[in-house]
Amino acid sequence: MSAEEYETHFPPLIAPEEVFPTARHLLRTCPVTHSEIDGGFWVINRYEDNLRVLQDWRNFAVGSPDGTSSIRVPYDPPGVNRPLFPPIDVNPPLHRQFREIINPYLSPQALAGHRAGFRRIIIDQIETFDRDGHCDLAGQLGKVFPARLTFEELFGIDDSDELTQVRKWIRSLTYDLYREEPAVLGGFQRRLNDWTLDLIAQRRKKTTVENLIDALVHGTVEGRPVTDAELVGTIQILILGGFSTTADATGNLIINMIEHRLEQELRDDHSLIPLFVEEVLRLDPPITARARRCTHDVELGGETLRAGDRLIVNFVAANRDEAEFDHPDEFELHRTRNRHLTFSGGVHRCVGSTMARMSLSIMMEELLRRIGDIQFAPGQREKRVSFSVGVWRAVDYLPITFTPLPR
Ligand code: HEM
Repeated sequence: MSAEEYETHFPPLIAPEEVFPTARHLLRTCPVTHSEIDGGFWVINRYEDNLRVLQDWRNFAVGSPDGTSSIRVPYDPPGVNRPLFPPIDVNPPLHRQFREIINPYLSPQALAGHRAGFRRIIIDQIETFDRDGHCDLAGQLGKVFPARLTFEELFGIDDSDELTQVRKWIRSLTYDLYREEPAVLGGFQRRLNDWTLDLIAQRRKKTTVENLIDALVHGTVEGRPVTDAELVGTIQILILGGFSTTADATGNLIINMIEHRLEQELRDDHSLIPLFVEEVLRLDPPITARARRCTHDVELGGETLRAGDRLIVNFVAANRDEAEFDHPDEFELHRTRNRHLTFSGGVHRCVGSTMARMSLSIMMEELLRRIGDIQFAPGQREKRVSFSVGVWRAVDYLPITFTPLPR
């Protein structure tokens, strides 16, 4: 599809290699774009307009008007029946009450207490392949260590078979959402729900609150206990957030490090790693867009959006808007002003951003301590998938070669 066609036919699924050229084209020609696909939706491209949408939750809400289902672009395939995911699918004031339960477990102070545990898990995972001279960095590291951090450190679950099973369901329900038969996906979703309900039942029996799952299970919103249905959705969004986004960011970091020949500089000076992580997150956001619903008629970027219209905030385009970023398409390690929207903004701003930044930095430090001369495997490059407007450009496979460094 040509860039021009995206002005009216921005599709729900977009080829990974078309994401950046399309964003550039829309920013130049059509900053608020209306697509006729999937029942119609707006695409918001400029940084300033996206920030306004994210900060104005009264006019740009999440969830269906009756609060029972998500607002999605594209609509989910019928029959999958994904649950409502609080807090990402609910609006204030209920949204704030969920965040009040979750925030203390993901605050910088709380995460400081997990730093050593995160490092231990990351080292353990890297040491499964660091003597081999080659690996699939996505499959052997990116997709595994964030899931382990979430399960072992945040949730208090140590069973690796359970983790492997949940990772399989999550993979299908994200990467394969528009490829697999809806009936098959519906089956995976039901099994994931049953697993989550079992976890909730176990934790209800506990009298002590030791981790995030316990806090949710024993938590209250609106002066009542959190319901099982709400718990299923909240635990699953934490799993989705915790597993796949950091996985894709890991792949993007290694790809950018190789392409920009930064390995030695980063190894010699670990204080550069947080800057590097931030610039890669800006240029290559793992979640490239999110959906909202207009609650009233609103003027935005010269267009009139009507109450009930769906829209997506296009993080890729916002992060490359020259009105906000100097030389927006350039990789600049020492960029000083980097207020990217990769973690969104407003009330739904990612609750896991500190954990993501911390774990990605530790991953880079420990990887650079153990392997050197990191290259793409001869004749091969990463394989990406685009699996929905909301989450795309995942790094599914990243074959690399390297030299093991002395331990
Ligand atoms: C590089 C890694 C990550 C990226 C790029 C990312 C991105 C995002 C984005 C864009 C949103 C906002 C969605 C919206 O405005 O509609 C979000 C929300 C959220 N993220 Fe993350 N995330 C990351 C890591 C994590 C981690 C590690 C966790 C959990 C441990 C997490 C859990 C959540 C949750 C629960 C929400 C919903 C927040 C709310 O609605 O108030 N994320 N994330």
